[in-house]
Amino acid sequence: MSFSVISNTAVKSLLSGLTRTDVLAIQSTLNRTFVEYSVNNEAAYQPHRASVTRPDGSTTLFMPATSSTSVGSKIIGIPPATAKGKTLAGVLVLCDTEGNPRGILNASEVTGFRTALGSMTLLPRRERVSNVVVFGAGKQAFWHARLALLLRGSDVKSMTVVNRSAQRSEELVEQLRPFTSEVGASLAALNASDQGYDRSLKELVGAADVIFCTTPATSPLFPASYLDQAVERGEGPYIGAIGSYKPEMKELDPGLFQNVVTSKTGCHPKGGSGGVIVVDTKEGAFQEAGEIIQGKIPSENIVEIGELLHIQKNKEAQDPSLDRWLTNGFIIYKSVGMGVMDLAIGEALVNLAQQKGVGESLPAL
Ligand SMILES: NC(=O)c1ccc[n+]([C@@H]2O[C@H](COP(=O)([O-])OP(=O)(O)OC[C@H]3O[C@@H](n4cnc5c(N)ncnc54)[C@H](OP(=O)(O)O)[C@@H]3O)[C@@H](O)[C@H]2O)c1
Repeated sequence: MSFSVISNTAVKSLLSGLTRTDVLAIQSTLNRTFVEYSVNNEAAYQPHRASVTRPDGSTTLFMPATSSTSVGSKIIGIPPATAKGKTLAGVLVLCDTEGNPRGILNASEVTGFRTALGSMTLLPRRERVSNVVVFGAGKQAFWHARLALLLRGSDVKSMTVVNRSAQRSEELVEQLRPFTSEVGASLAALNASDQGYDRSLKELVGAADVIFCTTPATSPLFPASYLDQAVERGEGPYIGAIGSYKPEMKELDPGLFQNVVTSKTGCHPKGGSGGVIVVDTKEGAFQEAGEIIQGKIPSENIVEIGELLHIQKNKEAQDPSLDRWLTNGFIIYKSVGMGVMDLAIGEALVNLAQQKGVGESLPAL
């Protein structure tokens, strides 16, 4: 069995060459993975992930995973908050189910891509995606913006990057410009140091159809009150929040989570009362998502994306309120990431790299 070695440059070349059709194919693989995990008992075959924080504040995640076709593990280093300019780094190792080595990939770009693709799961069905707001200006922000434009570009009219530092948001705006120009969308940055920031932020959030939050913030990026009316009406935006990964972190106001679950206009796909927060993994969210932990969100008001995809596929015809919520309702998707996502995407990328002759291929390891 040949063994692929896929460097960061090779991963970037592979990902930057993906067409919309390629991304849709990888998205359906990821959707199947979510359903397998949440509905078909795959969660039972996942080893626990481990997180170690060293005295210097650097955190390493060890994320093992298994599936019916492969096993593997990602090791990812998260730099301490004080380490300016450093980003996530790591590797993803894949074997077949008998342990025969299949490939090794630099995990930095893969992590950005797979996390953003998870946030795109419910995007194809959304009716309104005209105004997109992206909080953060790192790799995650890039991939969220890039995939939203690739998947819904013809419907996006404006995209705004909101960031703490002006330097990185300007860099990201330059990186995104060719993609917004291609679809004719406007592109702007709003920085925390800008004059009238709070007023502009309130207007921007209030008018947003899609909001992506991609920062390790420990205090909310905007107050829950900016979206009071939307929660009351039970209409948009769609929010994908992937940044917080520790109980003390919160990019979104935990009060917003509470408002969504107690809302009279919310939809409960499993037939319970109030609304729900959508997560990738319930177990992970209760351990790591500050917004869920601090917001004291009850387990019955959380639904995994895999369960939702399963319900959507099987029940929608008889449930117009679910259809309305998925297309127009107020949705929060909170992700902390799962090893099975890396495994599925890693496998797809190794196959693609072999087809396209990208990276190094050894006859065996
Ligand atoms: N859910 C998942 O599966 C998953 C996977 C990978 C990563 N993540 C998380 O996603 C986040 C972004 O990852 P990345 O690789 O894009 O990181 P990155 O390249 O370091 O970018 C982080 C961004 O967040 C901003 N930021 C940092 N601290 C902030 C704070 N306290 N308040 C507001 N903004 C802040 C930074 O602004 P400046 O430009 O001002 O520094 C920067 O724009 C991280 O929290 C990471 O742990 C989640």
